[in-house]
Amino acid sequence: METPGQALAAEMAARIVRRIDELAAISQAPGVLTRICFSPEHRRAADLILGWMREAGLTARMDEIGNVVGRWEGETPGLPALMLGSHYDTVRDAGKWDGPLGLVTALECAALIAHPAENKDGGSRLPFALEVIGFADEEGTRFSSTLLGSRAVAGTFEEGALEAVDADGITMRDAMTAFGLDPALIHQAARVRGDILGYIELHIEQGPVLEAENLPVGVVTAISGASRFLVTLEGEAGHAGTVPMYLRRDALAGAAECIAAIETQCGAQEGVVGTVGQIAAEPGATNVIPGRARFSADIRAASDAKRQEVVCDIIHAMDEIAARRQLKARIAKTHDSGTALCAPWLRAQLGEAIAAAGYPVRELPSGAGHDGMAMIDVADIAMLFVRCRGGVSHHPSEHVAPEDVATAAQVLLHAIGHFHPSPA
Ligand code: HGY
Ligand code: MN
Ligand code: MN
Repeated sequence: METPGQALAAEMAARIVRRIDELAAISQAPGVLTRICFSPEHRRAADLILGWMREAGLTARMDEIGNVVGRWEGETPGLPALMLGSHYDTVRDAGKWDGPLGLVTALECAALIAHPAENKDGGSRLPFALEVIGFADEEGTRFSSTLLGSRAVAGTFEEGALEAVDADGITMRDAMTAFGLDPALIHQAARVRGDILGYIELHIEQGPVLEAENLPVGVVTAISGASRFLVTLEGEAGHAGTVPMYLRRDALAGAAECIAAIETQCGAQEGVVGTVGQIAAEPGATNVIPGRARFSADIRAASDAKRQEVVCDIIHAMDEIAARRQLKARIAKTHDSGTALCAPWLRAQLGEAIAAAGYPVRELPSGAGHDGMAMIDVADIAMLFVRCRGGVSHHPSEHVAPEDVATAAQVLLHAIGHFHPSPA
């Protein structure tokens, strides 16, 4: 027999899935899901979400970095807020759940709290405000530097990032201006500690643990730190048919050796992962020896010390390879964030909500990065993980079962309705 809570959760899940599909239809190309910051798709998705926020009775706005923020006042106006949400940008050829599931579920919960008539369990005004936020750029797909939206909210946005260029040579500054934002006002998006009681993000696990243990949800203990680089190797272009091998300064061959070194160094260390996801060779002709090669590197570990150690070893190895091959190496760090610990007092409240839904409470680390890594500079953070099929993510086959969407919504709604705003 379905309880009223389960019936409500099923209703919520149906709306959540419909909205995730609506968002997934907003992409820069048909047939794949790619939505990058400061693009026409960013604007269309923002307008859709702002409309949903207003429909839910929240005040809604786009902030100075392109985040969308909905607010439901508490018992009296201006109270500090419990902030919930996630990001609404995507990787290239993405799955539709990474980001939007957390944002749309948070909005669904806020709507139910704002409309008590539909919400048998909750009241209409809480002793704190509720804010639902959609971050404009968590993935860093367009400019490699990541967590742009949450860094602006945390007040840690680095001005230098505005000079980063995308694949078309457009700077972030120009892209923001063309989008209708004034880069000089980004600092106005910053919030002060105390303004936000805590930041809770619901997100797909993007890993295999919950599925392997047959659990629909889990509580995150910490978000692994990450370092990202853009590496440029300059050699000498030349005729593929006439330059003998021993006289070459082949930038792409050098990059290949560097990439193999990254794989070897990370593979030799427990709990460290290294990925090269982007590479380009110039001039990019079959019969020309590449004079320049550029590639990305993404190094992560649960331990900051271990990550820093491996990053040093990798940089040393790349410098040695470049010197031996008479290549000029430029290794530009584009992102660095330490492991972010989720607050025990928030983890406990998510655990209580999971237990109230009748499930065991499983705590686990996140190997994937999330906006909480930036938000920790302005508020305590917590994350509720949701099982995803095969642990697959950053891929179009990413999937969450409707019953897990319902369970996650039920748990988040319970956590909000029973939230006590400070560490016991
Ligand atoms: O890269 C990550 O781990 C996250 O999905 N942005
Ligand atoms: Mn994500
Ligand atoms: Mn992602």
